[in-house]
Amino acid sequence: MARRIFSGIQPSGQITLGNYLGALKQFVQLQSDPQSGQDLDPFYCIVDLHAITVPQDPKQLSGRILDLASLYLAVGLDPTRSTLFVQSDVSAHSELGWILQCVGYMGELSRMTQFKEKSEGKESILTGLFTYPALMAADILLYQTDIVPVGDDQKQHLELTRDLAERFNSRFGETFTIPEVMTLEQGARIMSLDDPSKKMSKSNPNPQSRVELLDTPDEIRKKISRAVTDSDREVRYDLAMKPAVSNLLVIYALTTGESVADVEARYEGKGYGDFKKELAEAVVAHLEPIQARFREVRASGEVQRVLQEGAQRAQGVAAQTLAQVKERMGLGVYRR
Ligand code: TYM
Repeated sequence: MARRIFSGIQPSGQITLGNYLGALKQFVQLQSDPQSGQDLDPFYCIVDLHAITVPQDPKQLSGRILDLASLYLAVGLDPTRSTLFVQSDVSAHSELGWILQCVGYMGELSRMTQFKEKSEGKESILTGLFTYPALMAADILLYQTDIVPVGDDQKQHLELTRDLAERFNSRFGETFTIPEVMTLEQGARIMSLDDPSKKMSKSNPNPQSRVELLDTPDEIRKKISRAVTDSDREVRYDLAMKPAVSNLLVIYALTTGESVADVEARYEGKGYGDFKKELAEAVVAHLEPIQARFREVRASGEVQRVLQEGAQRAQGVAAQTLAQVKERMGLGVYRR
């Protein structure tokens, strides 16, 4: 049987280099696995219901959903090999999300660091931001997922997903596949350009903190030239002593396909100036073809068709799991 892959990205802002290097780039590689020769069946989702856990402007949100779908295709997602769809097109997500809220405990949701970070200092916090991880668990479990490729920041949510699935299985009988998390050794946590102690994020109020996939070449050059560096002048990978330069080295290596050691060796004895300039050019060169393809796809209308077909396939798979879940819990059984 084909191994099921599932992952999602929120259309809550412009996609960053962090999302790309930590997640999106992996999604494309996971469409086929020539090493094991194993069949993979990936489902990739635009998780719009997650995006509304913080207030969104409706017009902007609908544009961002199409932008994100077009970006998935522009980076190389092949709709004949992957199922690409929008979360709110498959109502089973909301239904199972609710059911899993009735399987999870307040205590375990209260421990989620992402909720603590996102709610910190805010006066009005939407209930959905708190229960978000139950919906994320529903996304994954509906598809009987084997592997979930994500960045480091999602690991805790994955642990909770596994706990909810195991609890459900032991209470109501074997229903869900227990998913495995998959993160990259390098790139699972790309840091902010202005502060290497924070992850690069699409919701950071400072746009200088991130490179966005659709930034112009000049914006990219400016942002990278202003990126903070560490106190000495050595281009050296040392996460503890030189977190800012180490982050830039990882970005360099992942965009050019070289190893960090090779990049380090090339800049030995040279200062930060050349390094940053060449890093900016490497990022620009990597993103240019993606941006060109994005513009083509976004203008073509192709993306709407892909999403419609994706939703149909997703609905079929999700409906089967949901029907089983309800039956096991005694919901709807009275009709028979
Ligand atoms: P989101 O939209 O914040 O991010 C999408 C993906 O990008 C990864 N990522 C990063 N990786 C490396 N460095 C960074 N700085 C960085 N920032 C983000 C994230 O880890 C993620 O893989 N809750 C999820 C969306 C979601 C989901 C799911 C994911 C909803 N349901 C089911 C997997 C499976 C989120 O907010 O991702």
